[in-house]
Amino acid sequence: MKSSTLGYIALPPSPYVIPMQPTLPPMPYLGARLRALLTLIEQVQSSTEPYHTLYDCCCDHGYLGIKLLRKNLCQHLHFNDQVPHLIDDLQQRLDDYPADAITPSYSASAADAGQLQINPQNKSLIILAGIGGEHMVNILKPLLQRHSDHQLDFLFCPTTTQFDLREYLSLQKFSLIHESLVQERGRSYEVIHARWQQAHGLDPVSPTGAFWSASEQSHLDHLSKLIKHYQRRTLGDQKQQAQRVLGLYLTLWLSTTGTAFDFG
Ligand SMILES: C[S@@+](CC[C@H](N)C(=O)[O-])C[C@H]1O[C@@H](n2cnc3c(N)ncnc32)[C@H](O)[C@@H]1O
Repeated sequence: MKSSTLGYIALPPSPYVIPMQPTLPPMPYLGARLRALLTLIEQVQSSTEPYHTLYDCCCDHGYLGIKLLRKNLCQHLHFNDQVPHLIDDLQQRLDDYPADAITPSYSASAADAGQLQINPQNKSLIILAGIGGEHMVNILKPLLQRHSDHQLDFLFCPTTTQFDLREYLSLQKFSLIHESLVQERGRSYEVIHARWQQAHGLDPVSPTGAFWSASEQSHLDHLSKLIKHYQRRTLGDQKQQAQRVLGLYLTLWLSTTGTAFDFG
């Protein structure tokens, strides 16, 4: 009989050997503001008319977009930021996922969001969050000009100057799908889901918002901050514009609360 060496002996599989699973990078943490956008998108995407493509514009590190991809909330997701190294870094982090960990397809562009080319074949939602309202208007102007025949849906969450954005949306005849207010670390942010081009059954976007409720303290606090902000600006170099916007917010305060605003 041939003597066997250890090398020839077929060992039975050890019960302690656990097959190697590729470890997925941790899900990015979202603060309350981005979580509110995620929740809204989850609701829309579970409806009968989901969007095919989501555009996470001005995405920075892409936290919202990655979460949308990992939760399989669209068929295609496009990341966009004007800073090339942010997009390179994001691309590398996405490459760390095993091929089957992210089901939707995705792409990325390092460019001004105003230069995006939206595919009219696919129902798309363009997310613009984390920049000021005036800056959003600068992005919208060329974007709308190049897509004048299309119906485009947007999800806006400006950090400042929301009046400038809203007034532009109302002049451009955007229709309101939904709007709300979200709090994060003592600050309030308006969330506006809107459709470019007038849409049957939808109201136009209001320059000051149409969601205010006197029974919501966060609404009164936000409105009060806006009134005091424009009151201060009436002392600056754009007095007339500030006076006009202040007048609109004071009228809104009166119609919401039934009392005149008390500057105390
Ligand atoms: C504060 S981050 C916002 C990140 C994320 N969207 C959010 O809401 O938290 C702002 C990002 O917008 C990008 N950005 C600013 N203007 C842009 C433009 N015109 N086109 C594309 N990206 C822009 C900046 O490079 C930056 O990464």
